[in-house]
Amino acid sequence: MTALTRLRLTHFRNHAMLDLKLDARPVCLWGSNGAGKTNILEAISQLGPGRGLRAAALPDMAQHEVNRGWTVSATLDDDRKIGVGLEQGETGNKRAIRLDGAPATATDLAELVRIVWLTPNMDGVFRGSASERRRFFDRQVMAHIPGHGSVSGRYEKAMRERNALLERGRVDPAWADAIERRMAEAGAIIATNRAMVLKSLQAAIDARPEGYFPKGDLTLDGEAERAAAEGASLFDIMDLIAEALAKGRYRDQGAGRTLSGPHRTDLSVIHRPTNAPAANASTGQQKALLIGLILASARALSDDGDGPSPLILLDEAAAHLDRDRRAALFDELISLGGQAWLTGTEEFLFEAFGDRAQRVEITSDSA
Ligand SMILES: Nc1ncnc2c1ncn2[C@@H]1O[C@H](COP(=O)(O)OP(=O)(O)O)[C@@H](O)[C@H]1O
Ligand SMILES: [Mg+2]
Repeated sequence: MTALTRLRLTHFRNHAMLDLKLDARPVCLWGSNGAGKTNILEAISQLGPGRGLRAAALPDMAQHEVNRGWTVSATLDDDRKIGVGLEQGETGNKRAIRLDGAPATATDLAELVRIVWLTPNMDGVFRGSASERRRFFDRQVMAHIPGHGSVSGRYEKAMRERNALLERGRVDPAWADAIERRMAEAGAIIATNRAMVLKSLQAAIDARPEGYFPKGDLTLDGEAERAAAEGASLFDIMDLIAEALAKGRYRDQGAGRTLSGPHRTDLSVIHRPTNAPAANASTGQQKALLIGLILASARALSDDGDGPSPLILLDEAAAHLDRDRRAALFDELISLGGQAWLTGTEEFLFEAFGDRAQRVEITSDSA
């Protein structure tokens, strides 16, 4: 169980200062539009790997017109203190991480908190582009495997070098080989991470209760992920990726970009009750499916005894559900055990929690 028992923000978006003292129960943030509820979830998401819930650049989260950095600090239920912030120094802006008052690394934090989230922005993911779905899935992977972000960064960097090399015209094959080898090394890890998380996500989906949030059947549409799912070794997957890249040089030169590799992988989701692609389901069905997926992702993290149970951030999820579905969602969140953070414009939306959750009103002048 991991819960935040205190959350403090300084100069984070509209919150000049915010200090919430909490217990381990779910937290319902309610208040009018623009009060800064989503900003609080975004602040919490900074405690995990990656760019967080809005994928914003560090300086964008600093309070407008206050010319300094921002901080997000939290006390965990075991009294450890963690914090992240934007520090402005002589050499520019940098992300600073603290653990119990001392400088720490993202890896240190990852051992203490894991975070999943669902925001209204993600509602279109099944109908959106392959890259949106891939980003969505990679975010789940990152929650399970914090190093997934940096290996993806290595892959992208090598790919940019390859694209630049191909663009130059006459290609030195040894040079191309070396770059593609680096792409293949990172790509094999990416594909293996994805296949691993897909497997535990699907198991968690299958184990979820039947009911209001329908189940989905997930597959990753990529050669490397398919090989990984079938148990291929990292070396075999590396060879597979490297061969496809070498074969595709001429084609990619024409296209001006790399057309094969794990950066092209799509996530296919079948809405199990109708056995049809999720993109064809109704808007409401897609939303319910997505909630089910996030609950499964949280469940997979909770069941993985190696790490802390996740914080579950649900932005505006309650508002779109009828009474019974809200109650079902809250019951499932309680049974998950990780601390959930929910937002809504009205306090009554959280009624079905009873005293199983705490409520905090956010007003613009708590900012
Ligand atoms: N960097 C920033 N500095 C100050 N205010 C900001 C910043 N970024 C966003 N805001 C303000 O935050 C408010 C929106 O907060 P948000 O958390 O999205 O509200 P809600 O409670 O509806 O979820 C808006 O009024 C917006 O202008
Ligand atoms: Mg909001």
